[in-house]
Amino acid sequence: MILVTGGAGFIGGNFVLDWLSDAATEGIINLDKLTYAGNLETLDSLKNDSRHIFVHGDIGDKELVSKLLQEYKPRAIVNFAAESHVDRSIHGPAEFVQTNIVGTFNLLECAREYWNSLEGVAKDKFRFHHVSTDEVYGSLTVTDPAFTEKNAYEPNSPYSASKAASDHLVRAWFHTYGFPVVTTNCSNNYGPYHFPEKLIPLVILNALNGKPLPIYGDGQQVRDWLYVGDHCSAIRKVLEAGKLGETYNIGGWNEKANIEVVNAICRILDELKPRVDGKSYAEQITYVKDRPGHDRRYAIDASKVERELGWRPTETFDTGVRKTVQWYLDNPVWIEGVVSGSYRDWLQKQYN
Ligand code: NAD
Ligand code: TYD
Repeated sequence: MILVTGGAGFIGGNFVLDWLSDAATEGIINLDKLTYAGNLETLDSLKNDSRHIFVHGDIGDKELVSKLLQEYKPRAIVNFAAESHVDRSIHGPAEFVQTNIVGTFNLLECAREYWNSLEGVAKDKFRFHHVSTDEVYGSLTVTDPAFTEKNAYEPNSPYSASKAASDHLVRAWFHTYGFPVVTTNCSNNYGPYHFPEKLIPLVILNALNGKPLPIYGDGQQVRDWLYVGDHCSAIRKVLEAGKLGETYNIGGWNEKANIEVVNAICRILDELKPRVDGKSYAEQITYVKDRPGHDRRYAIDASKVERELGWRPTETFDTGVRKTVQWYLDNPVWIEGVVSGSYRDWLQKQYN
């Protein structure tokens, strides 16, 4: 088996579904705290699949994590569990320090103790895969080259600082203890089952609900966009063939300014579900106050993972965003489930 943490969240949930869609693969123990971002409805199709064992719990719970490792003896751990939203980290950084730093530390320590108890092939083959972000590298100017794995860490938000700290712990556990780790730093993911606090799902749902499409600042901030299915295939590749102690940047080769992203979504919605008044959804675009410390540009140079492991994304931005918009149109029940009171409270707090 493998142990996945945060497998009820956006990327972890997609990873679990993707992994288990192959009937021949081994099972998953899915440890998730079910914060506001965790959603078991994403995993509904696995209800009767005995290869999926869901455990409600915290990566920071030493007793629980050690017990799971002893009981299920996973051959690998993939760590997705995190607080992941920059805006929330600005309002309340404490949870970010707790889960992303202290939680990862606890997971590493429990896993190291477990790994020390293994022998032979089981010990040699064990892997700890840490899922991280390009935001640890800080912000680029328009003309800077894209981030490579050699860029210095210059995190600017409480979120990225906490992820950077966790990456450093993972690195140190390899160098100090020989603990077998690989780390991936990826760009902005998008796709099905994405909680609608992040730009792409927020804009799709606000558009359909006739609400403003909030653009922070001048909308010229640039992100690289990676379709979540491509991210899942990259993680599988690195888990299978990545070199121990190495980090791999994972990106979609899709740099876009935020305003371009929002306009692209509006164009697709205009085509797939035109507004009743015949006007474009772009009419709903509203410029709002900028995010404090807003990073101007992220860009990923994903050539190392291509050169060394032969991975490249399959979706372009156009194909990926079209699939994503279609998924939100086709899944009103899932959306209904996440648009709860706590979500409405968040919108009130962030967008007044
Ligand atoms: P998410 O917020 O959608 O999901 C996080 C999941 O972790 C949730 O299911 C939540 O319940 C769970 N969780 C939170 N705290 C926990 C704890 N203490 N113990 C156990 N489970 C806990 O996040 P995501 O977008 O799926 O991101 C997954 C990982 O990928 C994160 O580590 C994030 O930093 C990284 N990442 C995300 C993006 C992106 O664009 N979404 C980009 C780069 C890197
Ligand atoms: P987000 O999806 O929160 O991801 P991240 O901050 O991790 O990159 O935001 C993506 C970009 O979109 C970022 O530059 C902030 C911007 N943004 C808006 O302009 N309006 C919004 O309402 C949100 C949520 C984000």
